[in-house]
Amino acid sequence: MANLHQFDVVVVGAGGAGLMAGLYASRTARTAVISKLYPTRSHTGAAQGGISAALGNLEEDRVEWHTYDSVKGSDYLGDQDAIEFMCQEAPQAILELEHMGLPFDRTPEGRISQRPFGGHTNNVTGKPVRRACHAADRTGHMILQTLYQQCLKNNVTFFDEFQVLDLLINDGKAVGVVAVSLADGELHTFHAKSIVFATGGHGRVWEITSNAYAYSGDGAAIVFRRGIPLEDMEFFQFHPTGIYKLGILITEGVRGEGGVLINGKGERFMERYAPRVKDLASRDVISRAIYLEIREGRGINGSNYVYLDVRPEVVNKYAALDGRTNPDGSPYQVTAEQLLKKLPDIIDFNRVYLGIDPMTQPMPIQPTAHYTMGGIPTNQYGEVVIDDKKTVFPGLYAAGEVACVSVHGANRLGTNSLLDLVVFGKYAGLRAAEYARGVDFTPLPSDPEGFARRQFEALRNGSGKENLTDISNRMKRVMFEDVGVFRTEEGMKRALAEVRTLKERYRQVRVSDTGKIFNTELLNAWELGNLLDVAEVITISALNRTESRGGHAREDYPNRDDANWLKHTLVWQRDGRFEIGYKPVVITRYTPKERTY
Ligand code: FUM
Repeated sequence: MANLHQFDVVVVGAGGAGLMAGLYASRTARTAVISKLYPTRSHTGAAQGGISAALGNLEEDRVEWHTYDSVKGSDYLGDQDAIEFMCQEAPQAILELEHMGLPFDRTPEGRISQRPFGGHTNNVTGKPVRRACHAADRTGHMILQTLYQQCLKNNVTFFDEFQVLDLLINDGKAVGVVAVSLADGELHTFHAKSIVFATGGHGRVWEITSNAYAYSGDGAAIVFRRGIPLEDMEFFQFHPTGIYKLGILITEGVRGEGGVLINGKGERFMERYAPRVKDLASRDVISRAIYLEIREGRGINGSNYVYLDVRPEVVNKYAALDGRTNPDGSPYQVTAEQLLKKLPDIIDFNRVYLGIDPMTQPMPIQPTAHYTMGGIPTNQYGEVVIDDKKTVFPGLYAAGEVACVSVHGANRLGTNSLLDLVVFGKYAGLRAAEYARGVDFTPLPSDPEGFARRQFEALRNGSGKENLTDISNRMKRVMFEDVGVFRTEEGMKRALAEVRTLKERYRQVRVSDTGKIFNTELLNAWELGNLLDVAEVITISALNRTESRGGHAREDYPNRDDANWLKHTLVWQRDGRFEIGYKPVVITRYTPKERTY
């Protein structure tokens, strides 16, 4: 093998979770991070509004409130032991990022500034609490920059623009990965004692999405083909505020700063759906409300979008009506200058993509496919667990959006994703290094690159009857229409049949570029195979769950059904067939009850 590398720990993905895992593993183990992108271009950079921790810097807050809000936000499907762990770790994690140099915004007294976000509340008053620590609306970017610098300082070896294609398993253990170098098309084998998958989500399954092009479900699809199950894939979050038609994220921080949602009749409609927290209800609740407004003809000019309005005079009007105050008790009022400082990217996005100035015009928005709650099942130390008994798969770890710990259950609260990737990225890195210290290298399987090579050969040698873009567009459309914010059995059966047909058609794809250097057509074709596999798992999981919970809203089963469905879905691929099973939700202190906001 010409291109063989050996490391104790190999991390796949260089977003927040991958960098955190790489950083912690590299403190005691020879560590490589492999990424399809240059690390600071990873999708963590799209997380704008903040990272949550009950620091209580501006008003009273408690770790217990953060824990309860996250359990409630998850519609009681989150594992409560893992949620407690994450929320307890949060304050320390923020201080650690601060000490690494992350430039958080500050209060006048010099403390880390915090803003309100959906579903985060004072558990006594029920009102929104300032819990999201932020660096303007570039919090994810700042995390990436900070962690990347720390990794470089710690001598992590980076393989940038290397696409991992396969997981290598021998003797029941993860022993390496195969990747293609995008610059020259050469295959590389990475032999390792521990492998951490931190490859992000799969929002590109849907037509309107806030997700980067890179978010094609690679990690989930790779391990799934190797017999590892995927958990709770029916739960995908639609963020309420994507730019109309484009899907680009408009941070919830806009509503944290006082922005409001307005329908075609000029009404602040969230007052009807969530009387206490209104525009700061959880995302599943708001996305459904927007759909219902549109369906009932109250979109803007009867169309399929509503407005997000952050003009200072509008913010100030509703802040006065709500009786919103500053931490010192004075009435909350903002100026355009203050908003420009707090939301610079959002204002720029609107100016660039829409020609709209949010300081003088409302923004047209619609729900956008945003976040993968399900994924590769892990425990709270990032170890991949492969069945209902939580059996650990030796040498294999996952963290960040590709993993399902499960701390988000059926619906994630905004800002808990950045917290998740920092906390569980760290523990995955620590465990991976600890495991590596205690074992020798297990030999690689014979012909380690064979499967990866055959996948690429199939795409180079297909009949050429089918067009990649047609298949991709069809998948995105049907998933958005039939496995989106609202779902029915009829629609999902239609989607499943269509996805299976598309998988057949995919076999006939042949790429026209046969070159080796930065062959993005070949890469896109391979990624589409991942998206199709993931789309099928999502749809099977969603069809089977005959209830509504969090991000999974079925019109034919509109109620949550704890008696039958307080359990996690697991889907395996065995002998080419998909098998479905379940495992219990961990309940510690919080008995499931109806959610109100
Ligand atoms: O709205 C936002 O800023 C997104 C953050 C998140 O998904 O946590």
